[in-house]
Amino acid sequence: MDSVQKAINCFYKNKAIHLEDLKDLVRIPSVSFPGFNPQWVRDAALATAQLLEKRGFTNVAILELEGAHPAVFGEVQVDSKKPTLLLYAHHDVQPSGEEEKWMSSPFAPQERQGRLYARGSADDKAGIIMHTAAVSSWLESGQKPPVNIKLFVEGEEEIGSIHLASYLQKYRSLFDADALILTDTSNYDTGIPSVTTSLRGLVSLEVEIKALDHSLHSGMWGGPIPDPALALSKVLGSLVDEEGRIALDGITKDVLALTAEEKKDIESLPFDRKLFAKQASLFEGAQILGSEKNSYEWIWRKPSLTINAIQVSNRKDARNIINDKAWAKLAIRIVPGMDAHKTLRILKDEIKKRVPWGLSVQFFHESASPAWITDTKHPVFAVAKKSFIKGFGREAFFIGCGGSIPFVEPFATALGGIPALLIGVEDPYTNAHAENESLCLSDWEKSIVSAIDLYQELSHVL
Ligand code: BES
Ligand code: MN
Ligand code: MN
Repeated sequence: MDSVQKAINCFYKNKAIHLEDLKDLVRIPSVSFPGFNPQWVRDAALATAQLLEKRGFTNVAILELEGAHPAVFGEVQVDSKKPTLLLYAHHDVQPSGEEEKWMSSPFAPQERQGRLYARGSADDKAGIIMHTAAVSSWLESGQKPPVNIKLFVEGEEEIGSIHLASYLQKYRSLFDADALILTDTSNYDTGIPSVTTSLRGLVSLEVEIKALDHSLHSGMWGGPIPDPALALSKVLGSLVDEEGRIALDGITKDVLALTAEEKKDIESLPFDRKLFAKQASLFEGAQILGSEKNSYEWIWRKPSLTINAIQVSNRKDARNIINDKAWAKLAIRIVPGMDAHKTLRILKDEIKKRVPWGLSVQFFHESASPAWITDTKHPVFAVAKKSFIKGFGREAFFIGCGGSIPFVEPFATALGGIPALLIGVEDPYTNAHAENESLCLSDWEKSIVSAIDLYQELSHVL
């Protein structure tokens, strides 16, 4: 029996243990957002560190920085002449959202119809266990992994990885590697393995428009006194055109156009508008926007604007008043070609210019993370494509991703432009960030089997 098969058999033998590892991690509500207890994130870091030790990693350490959520490091050194992989995942999660919308409690993992339901079950605690399961399957089958392994598990990805540059600076010597492998992206569909070759970046901010020192009776004052909620609505509405596309020339002119080949590649992926609408849970009659033959062309390579939250009074207290102020959090997903800081500057300038009636506007919590794109010439991509045959019985698709992972661009650059392989176990039904997040357990298994093979294949081309 070859060494890859021995490691895979060992994974099958210990599968239930790795699933328990995942369940234990998702029980920790490690929400990194401000306003949530940071001790939970620290507990997730500690639990991750203990897990790494249990699964055979050495030099396990909690990486600390003043004011930052802790990250975790571990490694398996086999031979300094062999190539080194730097694996990445994150142990923090998004808030669980509205309790009543969950079919089972967000931090009590529950298996239903082949899926594991819990906040973080897919994004991204499954990613952590993909790494620990693949590495420990090599070790526990009595073999050394075919490459040196380093693992970095971040604790503030979901808040934009704000201390990444400082982590990189302070712990630079830990990270030297020949390639990055991230397990934090999505597959094109359930059962269709995918390697992600581009990410959108994210520019976000909060806007508050103020008109009054206090709210007023809308009958007594309505008309001549400007309504900040209307002002906010006008400004927000003006940021996109009839088709929902960002209507800020300064922002969209930098978008890197798709080459004819890239366009052809996207259009050749299977795409069914009805299925896409169903996967998104879109209500009957609501349109899919844009004229693209495959909507992923927009999601992966064109910018989009979303209003994540709006607040003016609230549903329960909605009275006949002109409110004193109106607030919104909005975000632009930027694409390769666009600069995050420039986009933020233009967005703020345009909002200021468009606020009507002399009202005052203030911005809070600004953030800017870059987009990323890679070519697929490095041999690791061809190797990765094939390795998925081991687990899924089919080659991987190369796809883009509409989401963001701030880690990729700065780390790949700082480590000398090393190739980055983005793989992961989300699928269109995962519902990450929303209620009832879930992981397809069979895809998770197949991904681990493929990762075991991938390490072996990468040892030949790095
Ligand atoms: N795992 C996601 C990235 C992702 C999104 C992969 C969609 C595949 C599909 C990651 O955890 C994430 O949510 N990132 C944030 C980054 C932001 C806070 C800068 C995002 O995209 O909102
Ligand atoms: Mn994630
Ligand atoms: Mn996420």
